[in-house]
Amino acid sequence: MRVLVHGITGHMGQIIASLAKEGFADSTLAGGVSPDVETEGNGLFRSFDSCDVQADVVVDFSFHTATKALLDYCISRNLPVVVATTGHTAEEKVAIVSASERIPVFYSANMSVGVAVLADLAKRTAASFPNADIEIVETHHNRKVDVPSGTALMLADSIKEARPEAVFNIGRHENGRRKPEEVDILSLRIGNVVGIHEILVSTGNETITLKHEAHSRALFGEGALRAASFICGKAPGLYNMKDMIK
Ligand SMILES: NC(=O)c1ccc[n+]([C@@H]2O[C@H](COP(=O)([O-])OP(=O)(O)OC[C@H]3O[C@@H](n4cnc5c(N)ncnc54)[C@H](O)[C@@H]3O)[C@@H](O)[C@H]2O)c1
Repeated sequence: MRVLVHGITGHMGQIIASLAKEGFADSTLAGGVSPDVETEGNGLFRSFDSCDVQADVVVDFSFHTATKALLDYCISRNLPVVVATTGHTAEEKVAIVSASERIPVFYSANMSVGVAVLADLAKRTAASFPNADIEIVETHHNRKVDVPSGTALMLADSIKEARPEAVFNIGRHENGRRKPEEVDILSLRIGNVVGIHEILVSTGNETITLKHEAHSRALFGEGALRAASFICGKAPGLYNMKDMIK
């Protein structure tokens, strides 16, 4: 699988390039596109306009404003695309969905296969114990700005599928007993932690703790390349992590 990396000069683009050079998920590096490329050549391009490499799939870790150029290129070459970039506007999201009518598009704001498995386990555990108390605890480094983490909100969505009556509280900061339908999302910010997400489910007689701990951002790169391998050869459509771990 020959991978063209959009955003190749960035943190994640460099990780994808290294993994592809190592042959992760049967991949090879076809080339890369980024406005920050210093000198074009050897498979590196400043824009899709000049990009003429042979590739089987495009993996995108760039900036959301580049979405239209990305999708136009993939549609014109009939290439599947993994969109891992985040922060899309409503209009850009519509463009992604409409591109998926013509080419396979894998779109996920969290490329961690482990987090996808955790979300699935959280949903199944919540369904198995309808009366249990559930709490979500997320821990990240002291530089993180958003609270709670996007991943914690994604886990909450997954629990909500099994427990539609759940009411999610961001932090517990008022006196009073917890209500049965409450699910608290608690955030810790400490040191250099890459990211820990825990879901505690307790009936009173037993507690199940589901925990995912990220050690390196390379896990997103590995997930994106597995996603690329998953959509190669698929029919046009919109795919995500849930489809991949089925
Ligand atoms: N889905 C996931 O699991 C996941 C994980 C990590 C990062 N991300 C997202 O991936 C994106 C990149 O993250 P990063 O940490 O590598 O960022 P980065 O800033 O290190 O790299 C961004 C890359 O995009 C390129 N770029 C910037 N503006 C551009 C534009 N207008 N057109 C084309 N290319 C442009 C830059 O040249 C660079 O190559 C972000 O949106 C980030 O939130 C997603």
